[in-house]
Amino acid sequence: MNLSKAWTYGLFIVAWLCCSSLLVGAQNTGLTNPDEVKALQAIKSRLIDPNGNLSNWDRGDPCTSKWTGIVCYNSSLDDGYLHVDQLLLLNMNLSGSLAPELGQLSNLTILDFMWNNISGSIPKEIGNITSLFLLLLNGNQLSGPLPEELGYLPNLDRIQIDQNHISGPLPKSFAFLNKTKHFHMNNNSISGQIPPELSRLPMLVHFLLDNNNLSGFLPPQFSELPNLLIVQLDNNNFDGTTIPASYGNMSKLLKLSLRNCSLQGSVPDLSRIPQLGYIDLSSNQLNGTIPQNRLSANITTIDLSNNNLTGTIPTNFSGLPFLQKLSLANNSLDGSVPSAIWDNRASNAKGNLTVELQNNNLSSVNGSTVLPSNVTVWLQGNPLCNNVNLQLCQPEIGTQSSTNLTPVPIPTVCPPSYECSPTSTQSCFCAAPLIVEYRLKSPGFTDFRPYIDDFEVYMTQGLHLYLNQLDFKNLWAWEEGPRLKITLKFFPENTFLFNSSELLRITSNFTSWKIPDSDVFGPYELLGLNLLDVYKSEVGNSPSSGISKAALAGIVVGTIAGAVILSVIVSLLILRVHMRKHHAVSKRRHLTASRTSMKIDGVKDFTYGEMALATNNFNSSAQVGQGGYGKVYKGILADGTLVAIKRAQEGSLQGEREFLTEIELLSRLHHRNLVSLIGFCDEEGEQLSLKNL
Ligand SMILES: *[C@@H]1O[C@H](CO)[C@@H](O)[C@H](O)[C@H]1NC(C)=O
Ligand SMILES: *[C@@H]1O[C@H](CO)[C@@H](O)[C@H](O)[C@H]1NC(C)=O
Ligand SMILES: *[C@@H]1O[C@H](CO)[C@@H](O)[C@H](O)[C@H]1NC(C)=O
Ligand SMILES: *[C@@H]1O[C@H](CO)[C@@H](O)[C@H](O)[C@H]1NC(C)=O
Ligand SMILES: *[C@@H]1O[C@H](CO)[C@@H](O)[C@H](O)[C@H]1NC(C)=O
Ligand SMILES: *[C@@H]1O[C@H](CO)[C@@H](O)[C@H](O)[C@H]1NC(C)=O
Ligand SMILES: *[C@@H]1O[C@H](CO)[C@@H](O)[C@H](O)[C@H]1NC(C)=O
Ligand SMILES: *[C@@H]1O[C@H](CO)[C@@H](O)[C@H](O)[C@H]1NC(C)=O
Ligand SMILES: *[C@@H]1O[C@H](CO)[C@@H](O)[C@H](O)[C@H]1NC(C)=O
Ligand SMILES: *[C@@H]1O[C@H](CO)[C@@H](O)[C@H](O)[C@H]1NC(C)=O
Ligand SMILES: *[C@@H]1O[C@H](CO)[C@@H](O)[C@H](O)[C@H]1NC(C)=O
Ligand SMILES: *[C@@H]1O[C@H](CO)[C@@H](O)[C@H](O)[C@H]1NC(C)=O
Repeated sequence: MNLSKAWTYGLFIVAWLCCSSLLVGAQNTGLTNPDEVKALQAIKSRLIDPNGNLSNWDRGDPCTSKWTGIVCYNSSLDDGYLHVDQLLLLNMNLSGSLAPELGQLSNLTILDFMWNNISGSIPKEIGNITSLFLLLLNGNQLSGPLPEELGYLPNLDRIQIDQNHISGPLPKSFAFLNKTKHFHMNNNSISGQIPPELSRLPMLVHFLLDNNNLSGFLPPQFSELPNLLIVQLDNNNFDGTTIPASYGNMSKLLKLSLRNCSLQGSVPDLSRIPQLGYIDLSSNQLNGTIPQNRLSANITTIDLSNNNLTGTIPTNFSGLPFLQKLSLANNSLDGSVPSAIWDNRASNAKGNLTVELQNNNLSSVNGSTVLPSNVTVWLQGNPLCNNVNLQLCQPEIGTQSSTNLTPVPIPTVCPPSYECSPTSTQSCFCAAPLIVEYRLKSPGFTDFRPYIDDFEVYMTQGLHLYLNQLDFKNLWAWEEGPRLKITLKFFPENTFLFNSSELLRITSNFTSWKIPDSDVFGPYELLGLNLLDVYKSEVGNSPSSGISKAALAGIVVGTIAGAVILSVIVSLLILRVHMRKHHAVSKRRHLTASRTSMKIDGVKDFTYGEMALATNNFNSSAQVGQGGYGKVYKGILADGTLVAIKRAQEGSLQGEREFLTEIELLSRLHHRNLVSLIGFCDEEGEQLSLKNL
């Protein structure tokens, strides 16, 4: 038997033994339910996956091999198998369609395909998943009607199908969704009447169906919904029907937005709603006079513009401490403008006030025309502007435009993916943020600026983080809706990186809507988790769940068994070879390309963290030189050794192998005129070498 044959046989035996021991070890110890495996394969076969994000869906077992986007229960259920708990496939550019086999994932709680390009209809089989808690299909190209089977999901908390092309009516069966709190179906083509039966929904909190083709009338019975906070139905066509007077009896309502709905009749009296914060009834054909009673002190926004309202402006629009915007423009209001609206502005008023009264029949101002600071009034297009050259008739261009999303210059002091962290008082402490693209779908205000501090508190408390771990300065902008898009950057507390459990805790709180809604900020949507390269390997795999202990034990035992057999066989082979050939298997104590196994006598492999620590985060005060290759810093290692650290700059990075070869070469040079190399770091896309000083 010659040498190569011996090797071939040996390896074959080893491979066979390894595989079989693995199989024996893992058998019946927590594999995914076979029906669910088949269902997942069917789901994948219907999808087009241009980025190959699901490429590991044909390797091994969904739960134990951690298929992308699959989160399993952490132990097997009644049938002895593992089951899929969450399907998280947001933002992967997937197209194709949704397979009916989704209905076979019988213990699923979160079904998330948000922000892809999936077309076709919503499979009615989803209605079989009785455990479903979150149904998240928003931001796709889905069309066809809403299957009435979805109404029989007894545990559904949230249905988000907004921003698709769904047509047809709202099924009456949705009246059975008696645990559902959130109906988010805006920006579709849903038609027909809102079923009055929905007024039986005991848990309904947010009813967002703006930008659809709804018609008919607004069900008066909605006033009986005990938990309803937000009704947002802008841009539908309610055929000239009226706003039910009963809406003035809603006990918890925070926001009523019925802009551009073809509504007629009068403005209902909403003064009895105790915490009402936001009313938008603009761009309808409402007529009659504006109710005189004082609205809730919580009101921030009153928009009745672009209607056919007549009569005078109520003096009761004064003394509202949170009022940011009162718009009555483009109506037929007459009489005089009560200056009490701005004169009586509470001294503790929050932020600025804009009063829009353009294009009415207003003839005078009753009171002072001198505006307090932070108040803007628009009066053009009224008779009172015809003769007198009133300053109020030419206000400066409005100051209330929003901040634009201006890219914040990435500080060049930190390596890519890292930024100066707000958690540190040092001039720049480099850390890798977790970036969450986020949007408030129905905020309870018009101007965000007075609420920025409150938002910081809300968000960090909701995630149990410190206030300074969040940064979104200049990273917010208003979008159509109005919705408020915010780029949230979370920083680890006084360290460079989030550890994987913390990363998972934060991201899963977003993907499972665990952050409580706020009355002021309203419902949020998750647009994407922008995972920097340093974090990519951490998430995307399922959370701590997945592998059961038994399965893990099986794999470990299998692997150990395999390794033992391997070493026995290799030893035997080596022995044989030794006996035949005398000059033996050479002492190739080579330098492997893998950095974890690189060992050079007297040269230490440092982490990036150690390097940053030694140089006070590559502080410019520690810099002692600069060349074409990069910068040289003076640093102090944890053991007190004074070192010079050469940090290659981006353009001059070498391949890993070349870099390590250079390090090895340098380590051999011990000329007395050369300072000797003591270590290196090849991590986070950085190449650093250390010499004694
Ligand atoms: C999908 O794959 C692309 C390309 O590999 C990658 O950039 C992206 O981060 C992946 N997305 C997710 C959500 O994993
Ligand atoms: C498994 O999940 C349950 C409930 O979700 C949890 O209480 C338990 O601590 C988890 N076990 C492990 C080992 O993570
Ligand atoms: C997703 O696809 C669109 C076009 O289909 C492309 O413009 C975009 O860059 C893709 N995004 C990613 C992250 O691959
Ligand atoms: C899993 O789903 C099956 C079928 O719907 C059901 O009988 C079982 O109770 C579920 N188990 C859990 C733990 O939800
Ligand atoms: C699943 O849904 C289909 C269609 O909605 C229905 O015919 C079938 O009986 C359901 N299966 C189970 C197990 O509930
Ligand atoms: C929801 O409806 C089911 C069946 O119709 C009933 O058993 C359950 O008690 C209801 N739950 C609530 C919260 O009303
Ligand atoms: C309001 O408009 C309706 C229909 O357009 C009309 O019948 C009604 O008389 C108007 N009411 C007032 C007060 O102008
Ligand atoms: C309404 O105002 C009161 C008093 O300022 C405050 O306690 C409450 O939280 C406010 N409610 C909302 C929904 O903003
Ligand atoms: C509203 O007023 C405008 C002009 O004042 C008038 O042309 C229009 O017919 C009115 N619309 C309704 C529905 O009354
Ligand atoms: C209020 O308006 C003034 C200008 O009148 C502006 O400088 C300031 O930034 C505004 N503040 C807020 C919180 O909107
Ligand atoms: C105007 O708003 C600013 C904040 O933008 C605030 O600091 C100032 O106190 C306000 N002035 C008045 C008179 O309310
Ligand atoms: C959300 O955060 C809370 C507290 O910060 C934590 O206890 C919980 O496990 C998180 N939820 C998820 C789903 O990670």
